[in-house]
Amino acid sequence: MFIQSVYASVATEAMPKSKLYKLLSQARVNNKLNNITGLLIYVDGVFLQVLEGPAEVVSVLLETIKNDSRHKELKIIYKTDIEERLFSSWKMAYVSPSPKELATWAGLRNTTTVKATLEAIELEPTKMPLVLRTLLSQIPEKDLEE
Ligand SMILES: Cc1cc2nc3c(=O)[nH]c(=O)nc-3n(C[C@H](O)[C@H](O)[C@H](O)COP(=O)(O)O)c2cc1C
Repeated sequence: MFIQSVYASVATEAMPKSKLYKLLSQARVNNKLNNITGLLIYVDGVFLQVLEGPAEVVSVLLETIKNDSRHKELKIIYKTDIEERLFSSWKMAYVSPSPKELATWAGLRNTTTVKATLEAIELEPTKMPLVLRTLLSQIPEKDLEE
């Protein structure tokens, strides 16, 4: 049995591709060692991250991530027990949707900001599994790191 946690946070600095890739490669090395899988999104200055793994490990990692000065206002928006990992092939996949795409995947046609989409999902957590499955289908093939 694993847990799947999803949080949103606000970047404290500009995140050009170079910085994001550095963050991702650091995360992937650590996650492999720690039995963690997941997905990271960065859009309009907002991070959305899915972390999957043993409950204890995820909670320790979340504490570490929370203290990272590259972002602030970390808020868990979804948490569930899972039998199987959804992002089992990825130590940390990366997807870069537009705010509008993210809203559409959550079934929110008239929402244009990431913040509004995340707030809506938080109010209606039943939307999350579909959003996550859609994100899974959007992971670029070349992102398969192993
Ligand atoms: C948005 C964001 C996502 C992160 N995701 C992960 C992650 O999935 N795994 C991880 O080990 N570190 C992640 N980090 C980095 C951690 O906060 C921390 O810097 C890192 O785990 C320390 O690694 P080290 O002990 O190898 O220096 C993330 C940081 C940020 C800002």
